[in-house]
Amino acid sequence: MKRIALVTGANKGLGFETARQLGAKGITVLMASRNKERGITAVEKLKAEGLDVELVQLESTNDQDIQVLIQLIESRYGKLDILVNNAGIMHQDEPLGTNTSESISAESLKLTFDVNFFSIVNLTQALLPLLKKSDAGRIINLSSILGSNTVQSDSSSPYYTVKPFAYDASKAALNSFTVHLAAALEGTKVKVNSAHPGWVK
Ligand SMILES: NC(=O)c1ccc[n+]([C@@H]2O[C@H](COP(=O)([O-])OP(=O)(O)OC[C@H]3O[C@@H](n4cnc5c(N)ncnc54)[C@H](OP(=O)(O)O)[C@@H]3O)[C@@H](O)[C@H]2O)c1
Repeated sequence: MKRIALVTGANKGLGFETARQLGAKGITVLMASRNKERGITAVEKLKAEGLDVELVQLESTNDQDIQVLIQLIESRYGKLDILVNNAGIMHQDEPLGTNTSESISAESLKLTFDVNFFSIVNLTQALLPLLKKSDAGRIINLSSILGSNTVQSDSSSPYYTVKPFAYDASKAALNSFTVHLAAALEGTKVKVNSAHPGWVK
């Protein structure tokens, strides 16, 4: 049976390329985009490459979008094989090279956690019943080396001075979710991993 993948934030960047490479492996890819127009443009590009991709609209922080998405996957495919939690933000208030821990506003901190952490936990939990119906369910959380407290504490690390606090803390929390969920799902067919993609445009 054909494998089904969902990639969040698939309209550009790493999400777009991930959708392309999964599609090239013969996987049906649901490309989630919060903006319909940007999503259509991205999906059309990959369709033109002969890939089996479909647009789904998802603002990660919107519960209604999540419910509609789950119903769509359930009714059309009855399972989900791969979930790539790719959508993420680094708030404009914390440019790279700064340490914002003394200054970041509660509002910016909250928004960053909403997108990079809470919405991912929410979406993943909601999709778990469909992932458990797969022969080999896979959850990939796009993290960052900046979320490693070991790296952030090491003054000899090249990343030591890169301390956008909200972003780093949200990715550390995401790593914690990865480790905890992987343990919770031990012995099932679902595996959970965090990935640091490296520094890429
Ligand atoms: N690029 C790197 O060097 C690097 C390094 C380490 C980790 N990462 C992680 O890898 C992932 C992808 O990075 P990227 O560089 O490809 O990012 P990007 O080019 O900025 O793309 C981010 C994607 O997430 C979407 N998105 C943002 N907020 C969203 C929300 N609330 N709901 C739904 N979608 C939302 C964006 O949609 P819009 O187009 O509508 O804004 C876009 O599609 C992120 O989680 C990032 O933290 C990247």
